Amino acid sequence: MIQIKITTSEITMLEDLNNLVIRSQADRVLTLTLNRPHALNALNTALLMELAGLLRSADKDDTVGAVVITGNQKAFAAGADVKEMASMNATDLHRDPRVQAWADIGRFKKPVIAAVNGFCLGGGCELAMCADYIIAGHQASFGQPEVKLGIMPGAGGTQRLIRLVGPAKARQMMLTGATINAKQALSAGLIAEVTAAEIVLEKAQAQAKQIAHYAPIAVAAIKDCYNQALDLELQQGLAYERRSYCVVSSSEDRNEGIDAFLNKRHPVYKNR
Ligand code: HXC
Repeated sequence: MIQIKITTSEITMLEDLNNLVIRSQADRVLTLTLNRPHALNALNTALLMELAGLLRSADKDDTVGAVVITGNQKAFAAGADVKEMASMNATDLHRDPRVQAWADIGRFKKPVIAAVNGFCLGGGCELAMCADYIIAGHQASFGQPEVKLGIMPGAGGTQRLIRLVGPAKARQMMLTGATINAKQALSAGLIAEVTAAEIVLEKAQAQAKQIAHYAPIAVAAIKDCYNQALDLELQQGLAYERRSYCVVSSSEDRNEGIDAFLNKRHPVYKNR
């Protein structure tokens, strides 16, 4: 029998031939699975560009109501690709295409649930925090270990972590680079739910399906408003919410939702 040994760099070349993000869709839920298992789903430029492109398409696709982003049992993502980063100089960073990819991921308008098992570190944790919420398995671990590499979070980590877990925990995590487990992440407010590893994806998809069957106009407005809450003063936020409420209330789907409730039937939403 002939045995063929494949080196890591050959795997890297081979993976370029495959999808770095696997796409599947059912029940108005698009599931995007990060697919660089040999590198713990480290987020290289090609993967990020593919992910951002898929989200841009999903934003325009009326058959997609919600998205689940996931990895595998060992890793959601262990961070930006350190091997790729090692060869980047200041000029590369200045024209880094990942900046636009991260912006597109962060600005995605439909609900996203991150289904997390295993390592969720650095850029991986930053990606999970771009989601509307995170469901994690008991063995998941979260952290911003960039400081240990002489760098810092660069895809929203310093801003989103502090908003989710508050200043004390965020400063501790970012300055020490220490990871926290799923139970700690739940009590810190980083994640919404902890469950058995085997059913994380199933749960996330079930919740995404539920969301995807609500009126898209209402769902989009809710997401838009709670995102505004992070940027606006309370009075401005309340005024913003009021305007959005009036817009949503003028939709056909609002009439459909209320009529369905009053007539004890399931609503049929038309995104109008
Ligand atoms: C590239 C990575 C990687 C990463 C793991 N690998 N993390 N490759 N970038 N971030 C690769 C390893 O090199 C190894 O490949 C393979 O995945 C398996 O990893 P091991 O280390 O052997 O696994 P294990 O012993 O289980 O340790 C798991 C780990 C460790 C604790 C998660 O891999 C680790 O500390 N990784 C780096 C985590 C990190 O520092 N993340 C932050 C990155 S900076 P080989 O080829 O050796 O088998 C960042 C900045 C974001 O994210 C800025 C955004 C703009």
